[in-house]
Amino acid sequence: MSLIEAEIMCGIIGVVQERGEVAPFLHQALKRLEYRGYDSVGVTTIANEHLYIKKEKGKIDEVHKKLNLDDLPGSIGIGHTRWATHGIPSMLNSHPHFDCNDEIAVVHNGVIDNFLELRSELSARGHVFNSDTDTEVIPHMIEEYMNEGMDLKAALRRVALRIEGTYAIVVMTTREPDKICAVRDGNPLVIGTQEGVHYISSDIPAFLPMTNNMVLLLDGEIASLSASGVQIEKLSDGSRVQRESIKVSWTADQAQKGGFPHFMLKEIHEQPEAIRNTLRLRRDSIVKATEIIQSADKVYMIAMGTSSHAAMAGRHMFGSLGGVLPICELASDFQDSVYDALSGDDCILAITQSGETTDTIAATKYAKHLGAKVIAVTNVVGSSITQSADHTIITQAGPEIGVAATKTFMVQLTALAQIALTLAESNRKMDRDIILRKREGLARLPEIVSEVITRNEERSRMLAGVFYDKPSFLFLGRGVSVATANEGALKLKEIAYNHAEGYSAGQSKHGPIALVQDGYPVVCVVPRDVTRNRMIGNIMEMKARGASIVSVVEKDDQEVSGLSDHVLEIPAGVESEFSPMPYVVPLQLFSYYVALRKGYDPDKPRNLAKSVTVL
Ligand code: F6R
Repeated sequence: MSLIEAEIMCGIIGVVQERGEVAPFLHQALKRLEYRGYDSVGVTTIANEHLYIKKEKGKIDEVHKKLNLDDLPGSIGIGHTRWATHGIPSMLNSHPHFDCNDEIAVVHNGVIDNFLELRSELSARGHVFNSDTDTEVIPHMIEEYMNEGMDLKAALRRVALRIEGTYAIVVMTTREPDKICAVRDGNPLVIGTQEGVHYISSDIPAFLPMTNNMVLLLDGEIASLSASGVQIEKLSDGSRVQRESIKVSWTADQAQKGGFPHFMLKEIHEQPEAIRNTLRLRRDSIVKATEIIQSADKVYMIAMGTSSHAAMAGRHMFGSLGGVLPICELASDFQDSVYDALSGDDCILAITQSGETTDTIAATKYAKHLGAKVIAVTNVVGSSITQSADHTIITQAGPEIGVAATKTFMVQLTALAQIALTLAESNRKMDRDIILRKREGLARLPEIVSEVITRNEERSRMLAGVFYDKPSFLFLGRGVSVATANEGALKLKEIAYNHAEGYSAGQSKHGPIALVQDGYPVVCVVPRDVTRNRMIGNIMEMKARGASIVSVVEKDDQEVSGLSDHVLEIPAGVESEFSPMPYVVPLQLFSYYVALRKGYDPDKPRNLAKSVTVL
């Protein structure tokens, strides 16, 4: 077993209230954090000067069945879902972790780089460790400092100044049984406030059914929560931070399944509404982004995964409409590829639905350090990315719970489309009538996407039945549709585990066509735009090698439909730059139904977590 354990993509919840038992709330809050991905769970409460503890490896429902998570006493408690990254999931490694006397309980997300050194120091002083985690040094350090006479907050501050790495830490102790303390640097924590109750969590939905008033805790700050109030201080000098609470517009209902069997399906269906809400973004926010872009020397778009596909599509929108062609880079490779090309005169558009992706945040910080301006496009108010951005655009998808991104992709495209159109208006190279037509085209997308869902849901389900056991797929497109093809392939891989490659159709005959033989599925994205005729050429090449062609195609495009074995139909009248928005939807549905057909849970793909907070 490795000693290098790190708790990175986990869920944290803490609650302190005047009276009443908190255990049932902790249990339900942890259920709402399930989407982060996890393999073990734990809760601890304080009552009668004792810690009450339940923790175990496994899913929450299984653990609850075995241990009954609801029957711990006390009106203060913390809980955690752990997603193991380096070591095994086990009861002993699951959080909370404790000091030698079971008086101090700690949950933690992040990595403590110098934990080995700390652990051997503590062991030499007689502390006994029960797990292989880096986290366990924290309660033992707090124990040491409290034994020197410090209170919990002072001890936690000392710990934070001593540890190296990234963290969100939440802690409580029987020695101060009415208080939770928390500190963060590099991992998210938000505080929920309500009369007589305070919450702290890694994610807003955990406390959303109780309150939508929240107070941000920023990196380098330490908080102390009691039933009656919250105090925040700077770690560096202990100075008080006065911060108003803000209202999150998300509703608890939005974070529930609302009659759909899975969050992913619900979220696919919410896309028309998500676009509509994101089209209502404040005009001055879009204009400000446009001004930053226009005054930049070079413009970069950085992102990961689905967000990187939004960046690819956004690049086309900016180029075609706005006359600006950004350089798209994966955030993970940004520092390694940009060399001296990046300067303080440049601008970075960082696209990340969670606002917590470590690759994207690291690349952003690097760009900031060189003086570049940063525009963040994110779906989460107060997320880490917003702290290093010069300007933030908050997309309006509401909470996305399914691990596979669907509606957040859609709203990223909606936001980027608005920036592209504002660039077009401002640089005056494009005819005003054309810009107006494009704006109207964008405004029609909620209805179009809604029609796409109605028209293709059953058809996607049927196609899933035909193709679910094919081991490998090619998804092809040209121009802006390469982004659509990539996103379609990613969805299939991540939730249904069929191998799939998204590819430029132009590039396909330079290698991937070798894969094609009788019945090999090739999914072709063929909007009626400048790429259509060349896509027809690619379809013919693939057919000649026996491929089974599924085309995503405009409804009355008889020619492409006639060449295809199966079609997924999109209504006419989509502006070419925005075609990824409706054209990706049948591919999301297809992946969803393939996953179902194969018996997988589309909301919880294996090995994946909602926020990837590790490099
Ligand atoms: C795919 C998916 C991931 C994320 C990626 C970036 O469905 O969800 O590929 O897109 O991890 O996440 P964000 O956008 O939060 O930076």
